[in-house]
This record gives sequence, structure tokens and C-alpha cells, in this order.
Amino acid sequence: MKATAISCLMERERDLRIDWGDGSNSDFHYFWLRDNCRCPACLHPQTWERTLDTYAIDPDIQPLEMEIQAGALRLCWPDGHESIFEAAWLQDHAYSGACRKDATTRFWGLDILEDMPTIEAVDILETEEGLRRFLELQAELGFVIVKNLTCEEGMVERLAERVDFLRRTNYGVDFSVESKPDPNNVAYTALELKAHTDLCDLEQPPGFQFLHCIVNEASGGESLLVDGFAVAEELRRRDPASWRLLTETALPFRFVDKDYDLRWKTPTIRLGPDGEYQEVRYHVALTDPLDVPYERMEAVYAALRAFTAVLRDPAFEIRFRLDAGDVMAFHNRRVLHGRAAFDPNSGRRKLKGCYVNSDEAWSKLRVLNGLNHI
Ligand code: OGA
Ligand code: ZN
Ligand code: ZN
Repeated sequence: MKATAISCLMERERDLRIDWGDGSNSDFHYFWLRDNCRCPACLHPQTWERTLDTYAIDPDIQPLEMEIQAGALRLCWPDGHESIFEAAWLQDHAYSGACRKDATTRFWGLDILEDMPTIEAVDILETEEGLRRFLELQAELGFVIVKNLTCEEGMVERLAERVDFLRRTNYGVDFSVESKPDPNNVAYTALELKAHTDLCDLEQPPGFQFLHCIVNEASGGESLLVDGFAVAEELRRRDPASWRLLTETALPFRFVDKDYDLRWKTPTIRLGPDGEYQEVRYHVALTDPLDVPYERMEAVYAALRAFTAVLRDPAFEIRFRLDAGDVMAFHNRRVLHGRAAFDPNSGRRKLKGCYVNSDEAWSKLRVLNGLNHI
């Protein structure tokens, strides 16, 4: 957000109002301001961790003095301690009025095919700006097609490690997606994979998934992506009761093979503390028998059917063919992926994949944007 200057302060009983000079204002409690003092005595200058104990502050604290000094807010507290807050910092952390919405997320549907987010692999591998742009597109759209990554084993790991360390799962640090003789997953056959998110059976499925097309000479096997947040929002518009039910009802997921029995229960649509979309989790193949209360069972199936109708509406999905060297990189807790069936006798098809957690990916974007210095 571009900072505007503090134009005037209005002192009140337990808080103060700042007028930003553009008709908007923000209210800050005195206690909150004292608690968030940015000085080196309250915030460790090397670790940036708080050293001030919130619970040692008088709950009724009021400043003795307040003024605008060189564009910043200066407060002097009863014990002589001084706090200075820059206008930009206060605007970034304002908490009154409407909840701040994440302005970067842009929902998409079929129209995105006209304007596919693509980046050359070399730009991500060799430049910070390429990596920053890659992560920025992930924050906005939840997927990027990376072009011309050398078709060798190990390259997708190198690309993903530009973001940060790889997330190991029960499939290993990296995995090959091809038709295998003894598959433990439908992905390792030539069958169709309908839109899904990976690793629904885990408490925290990996945030970022990279699928590198090494060879794609088989007929069929077109890829598919859907913006799960756009689908959820459309469901809210078409059928608010079903939307609500899917935000409140935990579905059980399970993966099982000879070494593992992984299980987790969570809602299809998971909202964050401000009502924002945090996750869409959906995989018909890994859904365990529903165990919702008897009275709700039919309503839950109906809500899932309504969600699935939007998910499979051609206006919401994109279908395209991956060429050798392409990497489909997407946010696995927002964007669903899939593929058409292919004919393994018509030619080879092989993808190499790996994951990175979204915590580290968003962190990297903030660091590249210089936000860790604020
Ligand atoms: C997967 C997957 C898609 C494909 O491996 O999780 O969904 O195109 N693969 O094979
Ligand atoms: Zn201080
Ligand atoms: Zn998958």
C-alpha cells in the first residue's frame, strides 16, 4: 500500500484516531501502540523478536504526549519511554474498519488460456527477478507454466530448490509419473485423473507442486487445471447453503499401501480467520466412506455434487498439452489438476515431480520483495 501522510491526530479515552488526509482514518488503541513499540528496547535489534512482555504493560496505559514528528507518530509514555511509528508501518498494520483483503489473488476460469502465465526456466534458475515473478504469479493465479527446462532427471528438483528445500512425502523427495507395472496410485497408470488436489490424506498437504514433462509422445494425456477458489466462490453464488455446508463438514481422506495408512479429515473448502479462502481439498479417489451424522448425509452429498458440477463446468477449467521441457507448477491447496487418459502403447509419457511447502515459498517472495527489512 502506498503510504499517505498523517494529517491529524484525534486523542480519545482509550485510543487515538489518525486522519490520513484522503478522507480515510484508522483507530489504534494506546495499549496496542505501547505493545507494538518498534524501538530497540522493545524489539530485539538483531533477531527482530519482541523482548517487551505484553503482560507487564498497564492495561489502561495512556500516553502523556503525542505529536506528528517528521511525518511519523511520536508518543511519550508515563515512564518516559518513547515510541515512534512511521506512517507506512501504521497503514500496513491498521486493524480498524473493513478487514484488509488479500489484494493479490485473482480468480480465473477458461479465459486464462488467452493469457497463460509462462516463464522461461532459465529466468527462474539464473535470475532473482525471474524467481520473484514466478512466485508473484503463484500468489496471484496459483499456477505457472515454466518453459524449456532441460529434459533430464534432477532438473525439476533444481528448479524447485530455487524456491527452497523440497518437501519429502511418502512418495519420496521426487517421483516419476508414468504407467508402472505395480501402481500404488492411479497417477501411475494410463487412466484419466479427474481434477484433484494431491495428498489430501495428510494434515498439511504440500503447497507447491512441480510436474516436469520429460517425454509426452503418447496420444491423449492432456493436462487440466482448475482454480479451486474460483469454483468455491461460484458455488457460494449459486448455492450458498451448499457452500456453507462444505466449509463446515470435514470429509475423511485416506491413502493406503503396503507401507502406509495415512488419514486426515478436513472440510472441502477451508476458510481463514478473515473469511478468506485458505484451501480447497478434493480428491474423489482418496475420499474414505463419509462418516457425517446420519441427518446430514444426503445434504452433504448434494453439496459435493453441486461443487463438482462447478468444478467440471468447462467454463472453469483449462485443458492443454504439456510439451517435453514444460513444467506445470501450481499451488496444490488452491488449484486442482488432472489429466486425460492416454494410450501407453502409442508412445512414452513421463513426468517428474516434487513439492515445496508454501510457508517457505511465500517467505521467499517476501524476502525477494524486501519485506523482511520492514
Ligand atoms: C499426479 C498427477 C498428472 C499427470 O501425479 O499427482 O496428477 O498429468 N499427474 O499425470
Ligand atoms: Zn520501545
Ligand atoms: Zn495429482
